[in-house]
Amino acid sequence: MERKRWYKDMVFYQIWPRSFKDGNGDGMGDLWGVLEKLDYIKSLGCDGIWFSPIYPSPGADCGYDIADYMDIDPQFGGMEAFRQVLDGCHERGMKLIMDLVVNHTSDEHEWFQKSRQRIEPYTDYYIWRPAKPNGKLPNNWDSNFEGKAWTFDEVRGEYYLHLFAIKQPDLNMDNPLVREEVKKILRFWLDMGVDGFREDVITYISKPEGLPNDHLFPIYKGMSKYNHGPHIHEYLAEFKRDVLDHYDCFTLAEAPLVWPKRALKYIDEKNGQMDMMIQFQCVAADCLFTDYLPTKFNLRKMKRAFSSWQHKLSGRAWNMLYMENHDHPRIISRYGSEEFWRESGKTIATAFLFQQGTPFIYQGQEIGMLNWHPEDPEMYEDVQTRYTYAHSNLKKSPEVRLKKMWRSSRDSARTLVQWDDTPNAGFTTAEKPWFYANPNYTEINVAQQETDPDSILNFYRKAIALRKKLSCVRYGDYKEYQKNSGRLYVYSRQDDRQKILVVCSFSDKDTRFKAPKGFYMDGAEAALCNYPDPTSDTLRPYECRVYLWK
Ligand code: GLC
Repeated sequence: MERKRWYKDMVFYQIWPRSFKDGNGDGMGDLWGVLEKLDYIKSLGCDGIWFSPIYPSPGADCGYDIADYMDIDPQFGGMEAFRQVLDGCHERGMKLIMDLVVNHTSDEHEWFQKSRQRIEPYTDYYIWRPAKPNGKLPNNWDSNFEGKAWTFDEVRGEYYLHLFAIKQPDLNMDNPLVREEVKKILRFWLDMGVDGFREDVITYISKPEGLPNDHLFPIYKGMSKYNHGPHIHEYLAEFKRDVLDHYDCFTLAEAPLVWPKRALKYIDEKNGQMDMMIQFQCVAADCLFTDYLPTKFNLRKMKRAFSSWQHKLSGRAWNMLYMENHDHPRIISRYGSEEFWRESGKTIATAFLFQQGTPFIYQGQEIGMLNWHPEDPEMYEDVQTRYTYAHSNLKKSPEVRLKKMWRSSRDSARTLVQWDDTPNAGFTTAEKPWFYANPNYTEINVAQQETDPDSILNFYRKAIALRKKLSCVRYGDYKEYQKNSGRLYVYSRQDDRQKILVVCSFSDKDTRFKAPKGFYMDGAEAALCNYPDPTSDTLRPYECRVYLWK
């Protein structure tokens, strides 16, 4: 049977629940808060929600350390509130997808507690290795968050592997019992009516036999060995064949360090095992390797990344489009300009929303939230930020080290959503929320932007509505122009019904613009722009335009 692939017509909204909205006044974001805001999300033109993890968790990595896969954390409202949110979405014609985190669990998960005591059948649920006689670790891999990837467990008397935090032991996916557990989890949520999954670092789940040393440069030592491991496609095909194919759902693979050619092995519509992929290239145009090594924003690098994914997936696979999520600092502070906040927020929206693929908007992105600048490193909550701050650039002054965190910390995207200008940004009625609001909430907030027709929020609404009206955005060809320009991103989309030309300035100066050959401006309708009168051949700072020919 031909799959419906309804996700191709949709726009998703990502909720990172702790900071989205507190509904019960205890200072922590929750599902009651989400219920209150479903109509708001729908009003953006979004028809789906991706929830970052809401399962019971000790919170060592803000929920990405799961202690029970088949329940909802009571602090978020438990299963009862979840069912209300799920029904609330479906009543509004919206879909809901969950985060599936099965590369690792929490060390407080029952499986790990039993595995460390060698209680069957859990003994081999994790990746255990004995200590070597010379006191060396089982191999030289680094964890992504906290030093080495191995920690000694006194109870079992062996080391366990953790590619992330110490409290996130990796599951042993080579054990068929573990794969059965994954299938049980998938069925559990799908049977309840969930519409799909975003699968966390899913390309890491198959580890190479013998866990060989790696010789990469110091950070992320190991990644070239465990990313895209030997059985990855086999395991994903098994999940698809045994479970996913029996439901009307979709899957989204999170995949660090992946290029289109490799991505097609996962998401080619003919023989892939998943439907879409979160690639990191589009959000790495201002860093060396990952966001944690920031450099100057390079527009050509961003354009190359976008165009390469648009071309190479065309006709074969479907793109997932995004500029922000809970793992990356805010995009205006990186690719745009805080000085031209409003204009650059809109140009960034336009740059990605008219490409082929399914857009995902991250909470607060639609009002142009910015990076956060805490005065004290102790204010950071994120395990990775705290580790990095304590261990890197130690010869530099505390001020310089703190500034580096302002630019690179994941917590910049995790401050409270700015709903209005009342205390704590209207996120909670509690006096002390679990985390901080960016002090700029008095100026940047939803309530203010609702009343301003020219706000970033209303621009997102217009852009999404336009996107949904145009068939060429869904299926048309993509072509980029003026590739060498260090100021402009220009592309067209065209099908047999219509054609659009998208022009986005990433410069704070006026920039001359000449229409590419074959585009006759006389017949064009200016369908979207972030300034009045988009007629001249000079683009103002961060001006964006979408021209339409019918
Ligand atoms: C993914 C998540 C991130 C998490 C990590 C470990 O990259 O997006 O937030 O910390 O995996 O689960």
